Amino acid sequence: MRLLELDELELVVEKLVAGGDGLARHAGVPIFLPRTAPGDRVRVRLTERHPDFGRGEVLELLEPGPGRREPPCPHFAECGGCDLQHLDEATQLRAKVLAAAETLARLGRVELPAPEVVTGAPWHYRLRTQLHTARAGSGWQVGYHARGSRRLVPIRECRVLEPRLEASALALAATLGTEAPGRIDLAVGEDGAIAAAPPAGELSGRELLRRVAGFELAYDARCFFQGHAGLLDELVERAVGAASGELAFDLYAGVGLFALPLARRYRRVVAVEGDRVAARFARRNARRAGLERVEIVASAVESWIVAGLPPDADRVLADPPRDGLAVEARRALVERPPRRLSYVSCHPAALARDLAALAPAFAVESLVFVDLFPQTGHLETIVQLTRRAGARPPGDS
Ligand SMILES: C[S@@+](CC[C@H](N)C(=O)[O-])C[C@H]1O[C@@H](n2cnc3c(N)ncnc32)[C@H](O)[C@@H]1O
Repeated sequence: MRLLELDELELVVEKLVAGGDGLARHAGVPIFLPRTAPGDRVRVRLTERHPDFGRGEVLELLEPGPGRREPPCPHFAECGGCDLQHLDEATQLRAKVLAAAETLARLGRVELPAPEVVTGAPWHYRLRTQLHTARAGSGWQVGYHARGSRRLVPIRECRVLEPRLEASALALAATLGTEAPGRIDLAVGEDGAIAAAPPAGELSGRELLRRVAGFELAYDARCFFQGHAGLLDELVERAVGAASGELAFDLYAGVGLFALPLARRYRRVVAVEGDRVAARFARRNARRAGLERVEIVASAVESWIVAGLPPDADRVLADPPRDGLAVEARRALVERPPRRLSYVSCHPAALARDLAALAPAFAVESLVFVDLFPQTGHLETIVQLTRRAGARPPGDS
């Protein structure tokens, strides 16, 4: 029977796909089922029906797959975060690594080496969070949006947050005045200081500090900052690696997490960051480290790269947002390939598309998955690529 004619059906989940949804099939047609486990037998109601795929929600768990557990968080059933809490950590990781590797192989169409996997603490790791607010009588409730909606789920606990960040998030509602922003971003510094964007209740937009790979980085809650307290050094080490040379570019540079360590290995580093606040912090961080050889360009990568990338750079490190590289960036990297390209990605499908586009100029040297987001379906990937011999620009020896 075709999906279009069906409402409820019984399915067995084959595996998780990138992002964390379970995949089952009806007459060969893939059906995506959030919050399921490989091996689950479930009765589902279809919520979306398309000719070549569907989505559904679980009405009843008929037989649990191996690795299922009672989700530790009391908000799991409602809250839109942490989609994998119903799986033990070993099962989460295995399923995420498999899903990401399959996505890269299927969409990336490139030969991939065996991946390495790096893990850290599974709880109390997150350094930043986005909270939402809603009025409750004369006061406020603070929490996260419910899954697939903008309804607020007020929180009593959030044990993926760094403990001081969790305490501040839980205390925030009581400190809000007559007006409160709808969304408040919180971040915690190394000394436990908390910054809010916008400032809210008793929390200001203060500057935070964190030491990573031997460099002191200043930032605030408006800036992107990597989320796992225990994996920052390793992330930087794996991304920057041991290669060295004259000229390196750090694209989508944030506050300089990779640019500063790159300057230990390259005589000159140019870091390109589109967000003006982050670029300003990056400039200050470089100055504070005494690294005048690091130039910060406050620009969108897609406008800068057209004329900014020279034909024979030693190194480009790129860490784009979820959408992956801008088309102009993909084109420039293929036309003017650096000797070495390091790609840090939080989205396997976008990474796979970009690897396929970069394949004429680069071969994949190594692949590392870093579990920066335990309890969720997300996984960070670091790919090291080297320029193919035939892709050398004219005149290069
Ligand atoms: C995934 S973060 C990485 C930041 C930094 N590499 C780090 O690890 O801390 C992506 C960064 O790209 C910036 N960004 C987003 N779109 C951009 C664009 N089109 N051009 C330049 N930077 C952009 C964001 O502001 C953010 O700082």
